[in-house]
Amino acid sequence: MLENAVEITPGVYWVGAIDKERTIFDSFMSLPYGTTYNAYLIQGKEKVALVDTVHPEFTHILLKKISEVVNPESLDFVIMNHAEPDHAGSLSAILSVAKKAKLIATKKGLGMAKVFYDILEEKGEAVTDGNTLALEGKTLKFIDAPWLHWPETMLTYCVENKALFSCDFFGAHVAPESLYEEEVGDIVLAEAKRYYAEIMMIFLNPVRKALGKLEGLDIKLVAPSHGPVWRKPDRILNAYKGWAIGPLRPKVVIIYVSMYGSTAELEKSIVEAIRAEDVEAVAYNMLNADVSHVVQELVDSSAIVFGSPSFYGGVHPRLASSVELIRTIKPRGKLVAVFGSYGWGGGAAKEIKARLQPAGFEVIDPLEIQGPPRMESLQKASSFGKTIAKRVKESLSA
Ligand SMILES: Cc1cc2nc3c(=O)[nH]c(=O)nc-3n(C[C@H](O)[C@H](O)[C@H](O)COP(=O)(O)O)c2cc1C
Ligand SMILES: [Fe+2]
Ligand SMILES: [Fe+2]
Repeated sequence: MLENAVEITPGVYWVGAIDKERTIFDSFMSLPYGTTYNAYLIQGKEKVALVDTVHPEFTHILLKKISEVVNPESLDFVIMNHAEPDHAGSLSAILSVAKKAKLIATKKGLGMAKVFYDILEEKGEAVTDGNTLALEGKTLKFIDAPWLHWPETMLTYCVENKALFSCDFFGAHVAPESLYEEEVGDIVLAEAKRYYAEIMMIFLNPVRKALGKLEGLDIKLVAPSHGPVWRKPDRILNAYKGWAIGPLRPKVVIIYVSMYGSTAELEKSIVEAIRAEDVEAVAYNMLNADVSHVVQELVDSSAIVFGSPSFYGGVHPRLASSVELIRTIKPRGKLVAVFGSYGWGGGAAKEIKARLQPAGFEVIDPLEIQGPPRMESLQKASSFGKTIAKRVKESLSA
């Protein structure tokens, strides 16, 4: 499947690569469904442009697919929406075949193409917001979209086909059987949410800005660089609006670790109490949970609760990397609560608070219980859960 170039809209060909084998991305995101590196060939009456390339391991696939439509030597333009190697990694190889092709990117993008791929300055032509490129019968318009996902990123819009080439924006790590999202099913939207959580959520303001810019654009097709093409673009556009702008949900994400079960017992009472207040509670034991699923929950949750036993004066190491990750990616719901069991002097709650409070999280008074929880401690855990649920409701009605 998808071994050949596919004309996705008149004169626009998908020439990307499917990577079913890859299990992890950026040494961080798990890939249960593999991924794709999409590239698109746009054929005007006079000129031909390639939008993005592929991961360098797949250059031969890209060249083969381009050859099915045009001679790769005849490319006039290579458009680089984003300099990350999963999309620009084949640039040198392509430009050494397409000798007359100009590299089109933002000014920052051209700088990065030089640093990452040794592309000579005279090869490049910088474009900025609103600039157009005429291929005769196809007009490409460039939209500055910094930080989606690096500082140099831009989007490319084909006026005649009303098609948006959005690179990482609106992407999903799915190696599909069909190129079209509506034929693949709901898994694409679910994976797009996880992708958004891991790649885009940290850049909330740039995402909002870009969505604002796209408001004025007539989009019939969204062609990202990972996962299938959206022929019903409202599905992904509305989903992004919901995630970036829409209201948060009355939902609490609890992540915890426990060595002897004490912190886990507290967790059960807390979860029960939150649910009793009609607030959703989802809990993950970080001994075996995939952190990317936690991060996905944070897209629309209102609060995060960390449960850690004290461990050599601080937080348990199996939870520490999640604390760090959440501090970095800054979810919208920044209400934080911390609980855990300790043996003598504690330390876990203090450390989590010290990491998160200066980063703009609102940390409510922690619940720390010495040793295994007895009835009284479980009651404290219950009222702690109730307090969290109340604070969530207050934050949503504010
Ligand atoms: C490796 C290790 C390190 C610990 N370090 C601390 C510590 O620095 N301070 C403290 O108060 N308790 C410490 N404890 C005690 C635990 O926090 C305590 O046993 C707690 O009840 C364990 O909760 P759990 O059953 O949820 O794992 C440590 C325990 C272990 C096994
Ligand atoms: Fe990227
Ligand atoms: Fe990417």
